Amino acid sequence: MKILITGGAGFIGSHVVRRFVSNYPTYEIYNLDALTYAGNLENLRDVENRPNYNFVKGDIVDEEFIKDLFEKHTFDGVIHLAAESHVDRSITDPLAFVRTNIIGTVNLLNAFRDLWKDNFDEKRFYHVSTDEVYGSLGADGLFTETTAYDPNSPYSASKASSDHFVRAYGETYGLPYVMSNCSNNYGPNHFPEKLIPLFINNIIENKPLPVYGDGKYTRDWLFVEDHARAIDMVFHKGKNHETYNIGGFNEWQNIDLVKLLCDIMDRKLGRTPGSSQELITYVKDRPGHDLRYAIDADKINKELGWEPSVTFEQGLEKTIDWFLANEKWLNNVTSGEYQEYYDKMYS
Ligand code: NAD
Ligand code: DAU
Repeated sequence: MKILITGGAGFIGSHVVRRFVSNYPTYEIYNLDALTYAGNLENLRDVENRPNYNFVKGDIVDEEFIKDLFEKHTFDGVIHLAAESHVDRSITDPLAFVRTNIIGTVNLLNAFRDLWKDNFDEKRFYHVSTDEVYGSLGADGLFTETTAYDPNSPYSASKASSDHFVRAYGETYGLPYVMSNCSNNYGPNHFPEKLIPLFINNIIENKPLPVYGDGKYTRDWLFVEDHARAIDMVFHKGKNHETYNIGGFNEWQNIDLVKLLCDIMDRKLGRTPGSSQELITYVKDRPGHDLRYAIDADKINKELGWEPSVTFEQGLEKTIDWFLANEKWLNNVTSGEYQEYYDKMYS
């Protein structure tokens, strides 16, 4: 079985690649990644020499390149993660999200359809999506697989659009797809533009912790390896043309999460208890900021037997330990372009 994993040099993609390369030695894994600011081959150093691993540098927006790649390698399966993934960047540059998340996805769908249209048996296109397509919850309720789409940011609108294209290809061309919509991930290799790794980095550097608005926004956090395991299960056992919601059963208001993070970091860094909390700074809110996300993961639990394997406390400890042990990784990704982004975003 030849599997194309797109975006495999990114945060979640690298955990998915590692899992597939390690657990399925008979599969040939191709990691296609454009190596944007978010892609980093350092994330895969431990598996890059495995015989069943191949890396291809390329852009999913490049129609001819994608067509040729599929003709050359005849992938039996695709696990599609490549995307522009940061909400704040989508507010300053929506077109980049249209290109990669919508046009890039349609290019992959076309290439896969054209390759197998005469016989889709045993083939599978897996589209990895997000809970943000459902919009925002109020104080109560959970997102289920049948919650109406209601995206609020250019990022979530582009992911919603790509989800609709995948479903439409299933209906129109009979393309065999599965999809999942997951809540907020955290863990090793998380790019420090997102809340948890950005705040870990700032605490290490004694820099302000920019909490948007009143800090009462709520997210449902899942350890990235649990997401990778869910992707494995959906890819192998999920029903054709079905969507699965994946979540951590783990809701936190941002401000409570930030205070917990500060306390663990103080302990790990041997600082006076409470000192990192003094770095908390309330800043201007994100425009269109979704109040609350929370996933009902009952379907994947009942149908496939998936549930998170680590508690939030265990996952956070592992994550912080990883960042503290990988100072070089952190320094590399926070130099250069990152500093420009940071100054523009937070000054
Ligand atoms: P990421 O930004 O860390 O990684 C994205 C990867 O895609 C990078 O390696 C980048 O180089 C690559 N890429 C970007 N544009 C490309 C292009 N045009 N062609 C080829 N490669 C390109 O993202 P992530 O957080 O790992 O998210 C991966 C996927 O999971 C995305 O589809 C995202 O929408 C989805 N998702 C993320 C989360 C989360 O909490 N991070 C939650 C649910 C779903
Ligand atoms: O829900 C899944 C989504 O989770 C994924 O699809 C996205 O790719 C991923 O980026 C994430 O989106 P969020 O916008 O929820 O994640 P982020 O880490 O950017 O922000 C989490 C919360 O923290 C959110 O309420 C905004 C807030 N925040 C974020 C940053 C970067 C701050 O208060 N300050 C910050 O500096």
